[in-house]
Amino acid sequence: MLSAFPIDLKSDTVTKPSAAMRKIMSEAEVGDDVYGEDPTVVLLERAGAQLLGKEAALYVTSGTQGNLVSLLTHCVRGDGVLIGKDSHILNYEGGGLAVLGGMVPLQVDDAKSLPSIEELERVMPAKGNVHFATAKLLCIENTHNRGGGHASTPQEVASLVGWAHENGLSVHMDGARLFNATVALGVTPAEMAKDVDSVQICLSKGLGAPMGSLICASSDFIDRARYWRKKVGGGLRQVGVVASAGLYALENNVARLKDDHDNASLIKDVLQKGGLRVFEVARATNMVYFSAKSETDADKLLAACRAREVIFNKTSSDTFRLVTHLDVSRAQAQTAASVIVEEYRKLG
Ligand SMILES: Cc1ncc(COP(=O)(O)O)c(C=O)c1O
Repeated sequence: MLSAFPIDLKSDTVTKPSAAMRKIMSEAEVGDDVYGEDPTVVLLERAGAQLLGKEAALYVTSGTQGNLVSLLTHCVRGDGVLIGKDSHILNYEGGGLAVLGGMVPLQVDDAKSLPSIEELERVMPAKGNVHFATAKLLCIENTHNRGGGHASTPQEVASLVGWAHENGLSVHMDGARLFNATVALGVTPAEMAKDVDSVQICLSKGLGAPMGSLICASSDFIDRARYWRKKVGGGLRQVGVVASAGLYALENNVARLKDDHDNASLIKDVLQKGGLRVFEVARATNMVYFSAKSETDADKLLAACRAREVIFNKTSSDTFRLVTHLDVSRAQAQTAASVIVEEYRKLG
């Protein structure tokens, strides 16, 4: 029998391709994708565009590259980008928008989900004043990673996009975990992406592919994004080998995200009953943020759980994040939660 350990909850990026996924990969038809000749990539891009209700899609290496290429396509040097202060693009993507695109991040309080219209109006630079960068783009994130995996609704997105378009801004959605949001809310991916101008979705998070993301948008936008993908070194050759895993993931691993959400909810309940402080998240998905009593306790708890092969990460001196995914079963979720509570109690 396979051991239940290790139980790796540090991210949903740690999933490994299943036997069925590897079989599909070994049989994938391939060609040179820079020439547009990889039939599997063409199929994946069509499937992604259709699912997201957009005219076209572009296969890119990662979520970071998908966001960067999208932003480079929307903006020119010196343009202002309204962006959440807690967003992944701003905090965890090496400042690529500023380094490679010369864009000016205009930080808004995203309050662990979407910014309010009042907040956007507060930060939006006045037009026709040479002192200010001209704002051209609003970036939003759904689900929101630092927001504990909170899912925003299509109605909330529509209201922000309405404001952005009235003010001459385009909107890009970082939908690294868009399918977690749609499964949690019971809406289609197309409904979620309907109003935004571009969206980036990751195939390598909860969906379980080894790599890759799709940018979905209008045909004109994707034609221009293709140039940027090449410039940042993202033009790949016989990449159908991994694109096939992305197709498999879209076809087989979306609906099952509900299991991950149920497992996260189970862990949250066990931790709460065990006396740990768990952060409440409305419309939660596959993440649980919780904290120890002190920084020292946090280090001890992390180490004790790691010694028992229950792995999760710290996000600040005394706060942890764990993420459920398709390589963690219900029984493993239960076991991990019990181990955390046992070790927490030993700290006294
Ligand atoms: C919200 C969000 N956006 C973008 C990314 C970047 O994806 P990648 O790691 O594929 O570059 C991540 C990665 O975890 C993420 O959580």
